[in-house]
Amino acid sequence: QKRFSRSNTNAVVRTDEWEVKRQFVGIDYSRQLGRGAFGSVYLGRVFSGNIPEMAVKTLLQLNTLKKEDDFVAVKTLHETADRQAASEFLDEINIMKKIGFHERLVNLLACVTETEPLLLVVEYCSNGDLLKFMRERRMFMLKLKDTVGHDIAGRHSVITQKQQLMFGIQIAYGMEYLSQRGFVHRDLAARNILVDANETCKIGDFGLCRQISGESEQYISRGGRLPWKWMAPEALERFYFSVESDVWSFGVLLFEIITLGGNPYPEWPAVELLHRLKTGERMPRPEGCSNGFYEIMLDCWRCVPMQRPSFEKIRRKLAHELEESS
Ligand code: ADE
Repeated sequence: QKRFSRSNTNAVVRTDEWEVKRQFVGIDYSRQLGRGAFGSVYLGRVFSGNIPEMAVKTLLQLNTLKKEDDFVAVKTLHETADRQAASEFLDEINIMKKIGFHERLVNLLACVTETEPLLLVVEYCSNGDLLKFMRERRMFMLKLKDTVGHDIAGRHSVITQKQQLMFGIQIAYGMEYLSQRGFVHRDLAARNILVDANETCKIGDFGLCRQISGESEQYISRGGRLPWKWMAPEALERFYFSVESDVWSFGVLLFEIITLGGNPYPEWPAVELLHRLKTGERMPRPEGCSNGFYEIMLDCWRCVPMQRPSFEKIRRKLAHELEESS
């Protein structure tokens, strides 16, 4: 039984130029990078001579693959994963093949799908996910306030307002690419953004990503496990997903960035969320958030999807804020 409509993906992955031999993918099972209900991500290595040629070429152009053999992240399914999970994992691999390269995405490098266990090999982002990245630094910054002058030798540095704006610009840039190519991400949130060695953001986790065809600009999901505090009203109410509902989620992501990993709607009961959003209630301006930044968040949270700004417009507005602040 299918949970999602699969009109744009094949249930079976065609093996192609992305396929590599399993013995060329080294996985360090002692270095787990992430863990979900049905799969985990581990640190790995693929000798770049064995990364499919088309991936190497583009990555060299993007300057993300600098050394001969580099670390990669390898996603696998747990042995306990059911057929449904395996089929969704294949969808994710298929979608990544279609998306193509962009410097602000966690790019596909290779895959193993001819035999089980299935492997998805993507770029490694050494600073982990954005949510953890920001929360660790928020803790450090709070401690710094209390102990003026002490404990500065800590592992973590601070996050400046400029860096917060840069994060927003980088993610908007990646979303601009995705949306222009007809993809809806559906799970845009700080936990799904990764931070690379240069402390810049890349969009990751395409598990819920779907391509919307030219005819309909919407993807109507059949429900399932969805991130409701990041969802637009039309997505909460009717499971309508579109570029515009991604823009709404981006607004919530801006809230996470400006609060360095705060929880959205901390005091709103789940059952009231939709009603309160529909009657125009929004999260108040967080402490330390400029009016300009808050206005961009509010624009993303307009009730009528068509009135929300495009990712290009958002990126320009954030860049303008950056100019103003420096
Ligand atoms: N956790 C999940 N995916 C990752 C990646 N590509 N790099 C680093 N940590 C991750």
